[in-house]
Amino acid sequence: MSDRANQLISDLLRRIHEAIVDNDVTYEDYQTAKQWFIDVGEAGEWPLFGDVYIEHAVEEQAFGRRAGSQGTILGPFHLPDAPILETPYQLPHRPDEQGDRTLLTGQVLDVEGNPLHGAKLDVWQADADGRYSGFMPGPPEGNLRGQVLAREDGRYEVRTVIPGPYTIPLDGPTGRVTAAAGWSPWRPAHIHLFVSADGFEPLITQLFIDSSDYLHDDVASAVKDELIVHPEPAGDGEYVISYDFVLAPVKTPATLSRGD
Ligand code: BEZ
Ligand code: FE
Repeated sequence: MSDRANQLISDLLRRIHEAIVDNDVTYEDYQTAKQWFIDVGEAGEWPLFGDVYIEHAVEEQAFGRRAGSQGTILGPFHLPDAPILETPYQLPHRPDEQGDRTLLTGQVLDVEGNPLHGAKLDVWQADADGRYSGFMPGPPEGNLRGQVLAREDGRYEVRTVIPGPYTIPLDGPTGRVTAAAGWSPWRPAHIHLFVSADGFEPLITQLFIDSSDYLHDDVASAVKDELIVHPEPAGDGEYVISYDFVLAPVKTPATLSRGD
């Protein structure tokens, strides 16, 4: 076993052992926990549990001090290979898609403010009822998922609808443990983005709608103040969300050795 594995696994186990002592854990508690581990596995919810309760700490540790825009968790609902959209950019949607129409627009820049021509923005989101295509009944395959390219001046724009908040699944073991602890199972309304450009660190992030409930008790602890956006009314019942993304340069061996 590597030193790192030894150190990390020992540390995790020591903290569990301390919690057992601090909380006077009984054999009954232990059997309940063992059954819950089995249930999470059988329900295929380990990725969900990790993304709800663990990923935010890993993201902050890995990227919290990085230059450029703030990232946040990826979550379990990204699908690779969403279509690259043609102009005028509009996320695929149903003819009767519910929700307020909005334009999401801004620039993709480097840390010196130079536009990143050809930057790619992979955008995915829940519908107005909080349902993700490909994972939940309702929206058709590919709904509200697509990739757009920034223009020469780094500007991007994509039309979509404002998503709704949603709960993590309540009927599985992740929902059960959330209810047992008395925590809210809701995520506030948000749009996911994966922003990439050659020579730059990819940015995985979310933009949170400022009027949404649950901004301050997101079950996944993924909200950062810098990522809260205000959709501005733009006439005809449409809104505009403006947000610039700043990408950090890829770390070269030279910058790594300087420790930035
Ligand atoms: C999401 O952002 O879609 C998400 C993140 C963590 C857990 C569940 C959903
Ligand atoms: Fe989400």
